[in-house]
Amino acid sequence: MIDFDQPISRQGSHSLKHDAVKAVFGTDDILPLWVADMDFATPPAVTDALLKRAAHPLYGYTLAPDSLFDAMQNWIETRYRWKTERDWLMLAPGVVPTLNAAVLALTRPGDGVIVQPPVYPPFFSAVTRSGRTLVENPLRLSNDKYRMDFDHLESCMKRGARLLLLCAPQNPTGRVWTQPELEELLALTQRYRVTLLSDEIHADLTYPGVIHYSPGALTAGNNAIITAIAPSKTFNIPGLGLSALIIPNPEYRKALQNSFEMLHVSTTNPFSLAAFEAAYRKGGPWLMQLREYLAENRDFSREFIEQNLPGIRFIEPEGTYLLWLDCRELGMNDSELKQFFIRKAKVGLNPGMTFGVNGSGFMRMNIGTRKAVVAEALERIADALTSAKQRAG
Ligand SMILES: Cc1ncc(COP(=O)(O)O)c(C=O)c1O
Repeated sequence: MIDFDQPISRQGSHSLKHDAVKAVFGTDDILPLWVADMDFATPPAVTDALLKRAAHPLYGYTLAPDSLFDAMQNWIETRYRWKTERDWLMLAPGVVPTLNAAVLALTRPGDGVIVQPPVYPPFFSAVTRSGRTLVENPLRLSNDKYRMDFDHLESCMKRGARLLLLCAPQNPTGRVWTQPELEELLALTQRYRVTLLSDEIHADLTYPGVIHYSPGALTAGNNAIITAIAPSKTFNIPGLGLSALIIPNPEYRKALQNSFEMLHVSTTNPFSLAAFEAAYRKGGPWLMQLREYLAENRDFSREFIEQNLPGIRFIEPEGTYLLWLDCRELGMNDSELKQFFIRKAKVGLNPGMTFGVNGSGFMRMNIGTRKAVVAEALERIADALTSAKQRAG
């Protein structure tokens, strides 16, 4: 049994989440629940593989072994029910580099690229930094659930967009798209010849009873899909920087490869390769326990928020360790909301506005941490709300 309740101090380890707190929030005394990594030790099998690799005192340029691709293909087949061919697989330094490389490789300056906010901020910057046109198809929230707006999406495609960046599962809303939703989406991308880039970095982190469907797996014949996967969120190794791409279309593979090679971006770091293979080969049992632990954190948070945080609505995540809190009923503007969480509640969350304008009034909270920390954070928010109410009264 993995003890996810075991405290491990990350302070002083140059952790972005913990050691940049003062720089980002202006104060030290907050609980950091922002950056999307977890506070849990990586699976022992991964640590063992890294130690073994480190024990060999040569860290030169390294090849990705066939065994790594075998492990990956096996993972993709058992987890995402998708039989891939070895040729389709490529390594990439990370998923964000892929978002950028794909925009550069598959579109021209001025071309429209569709994103569906609220969404992870690099989706926007991949489009705007490269001089492409951002085409937004905002997700619609009704009855506390986000859905894709297919009518509006079709109008975006009619206007000539070339590429759609999909986040599946979705950061920050926690949606895991269903098969019918993805089929509707795919019907549109096929009709309007829009390339789909599906960022599935959170694919392994669905809650019990929720199935992640990969659009690429649903359409064996569709040659216009690029799928990005990674063990980084799953096994808490994002600092190592490695991901993989599933690209059945050889033209796209070549285009992506060119994009990376232009910058001489290396994908073969000896440590990330060792960790990546060990994670996919041996990490399954650890992941099962992690998912149960995260589900307990989610259930605890739901109950606590519904009972003790008036004005904050819990949006049920189907995947990811991120909670998307609807704080609009608190009646604060975005600057007040941000300050309330930092100065009054003393918790470090991500302001919703960073995920797009329809993130206004929301906050993202990372529950990939010990239960005691989640409970402490929610208690702090409850106390701050009570004090604010007393002052107002
Ligand atoms: C949807 C999504 N894509 C990509 C990333 C980061 O990917 P990488 O570190 O591999 O560049 C994150 C991290 O939070 C994410 O949530």
